[in-house]
Amino acid sequence: MSSQKFTLRELQSYTGQRKGDPILLGLNGIVYDVSTGAAFYGPGNGYSVFAGRDSTIGLAKGSLLRDVMPGPGEAPTTMDMLSEAEQTAALTWEKRLKQKYPVVGVLVKEEELESK
Ligand code: HEM
Repeated sequence: MSSQKFTLRELQSYTGQRKGDPILLGLNGIVYDVSTGAAFYGPGNGYSVFAGRDSTIGLAKGSLLRDVMPGPGEAPTTMDMLSEAEQTAALTWEKRLKQKYPVVGVLVKEEELESK
């Protein structure tokens, strides 16, 4: 399970809307199960915009706007797309999430999944 590959299209189902499914969040290419943080990420809650998505740009920029982050079908965010300050912020978030939530997989581009 920990090396499961997710495209952003697949990730988008895991928002906590579907009963029994985990809430998943992508950051820096890694996918976390943030179900225990449902008070943050669950449907209708303050940070639900990050559920089922690649949150990297949002967390790096401190933005809760859905449109700053890649959508389903797009490629996951990589470090070279971020400024130095944003990279630092993204890594600080990574440290926090790693301490708190289990890793369940990695983010891949659509093409990478097809050729696996
Ligand atoms: C006025 C601004 C803000 C306030 C007062 C605020 C406050 C808080 C508080 C009190 C928590 C709970 C911390 C805990 O119990 O561990 C939290 C968690 C969180 N905040 Fe904010 N926040 C603000 C802005 C932002 C922004 C701009 C972002 C990102 C775009 C953000 C992302 C998050 C995330 C992702 C969590 C959950 C982290 C986790 O899973 O442990 N916050 N925030």
